[in-house]
Amino acid sequence: MNETAKIPENDPPNESGGPPALTQTIVLVGLMGAGKSCIGRRLAQRLNVSFVDADTEIEQAAGCSIAEIFEKYGEAAFRDGERRVMSRLLEGPPTILAAGGGAFMDAETRQLIRQHAVSVWLRADLDTLASRTKGRGHRPLLNNGDPRETLAKLIEVRYPVYAEADITVDTGVDNPNVTCARVVEALAGVVAIEETSAS
Ligand code: S3P
Repeated sequence: MNETAKIPENDPPNESGGPPALTQTIVLVGLMGAGKSCIGRRLAQRLNVSFVDADTEIEQAAGCSIAEIFEKYGEAAFRDGERRVMSRLLEGPPTILAAGGGAFMDAETRQLIRQHAVSVWLRADLDTLASRTKGRGHRPLLNNGDPRETLAKLIEVRYPVYAEADITVDTGVDNPNVTCARVVEALAGVVAIEETSAS
């Protein structure tokens, strides 16, 4: 949580008392290291709506870390939990929702996202993903073998599916605020949003 340490993990809902600034949940999808949580938090602040990190919700529901879920129960059990948590979140009030990298690969979850949300793929190249995930041990998929190779394989398998998202925004070395502004711009034509501050 380095770059966003001052912002709470999952922000409280909009308490301004005004009408919700968002009519539909915005789901951020993309590979590990694409910046879904980082951009999601900024986007939520900018739109004055709550931010939810699906991975955090899964950890809270399980009472342990994602690494521990993989270790104790295996990936299939994690994916079941992820599907249930995503379904609950997608059926709730509109938020900015950062999905785990594998969530959009699940056909049922993708269908729910289509029904209830607008999806934004944060597309990043291999170098960006490799450098942003380097030296961080909390992602079980990158803890065995060469993480760069794993990411390259995941790009091959997942990018054609992520491409089904409603909106694609490229993210790389740019300042996160620049990427966030690009997301806002791209969303403007697709979903009713009301900006509360220009950060
Ligand atoms: C995963 C991505 C992770 C987390 C889990 C599996 C994946 O989330 O859900 O480790 O399959 O790509 P982030 O994309 O937020 O790192």
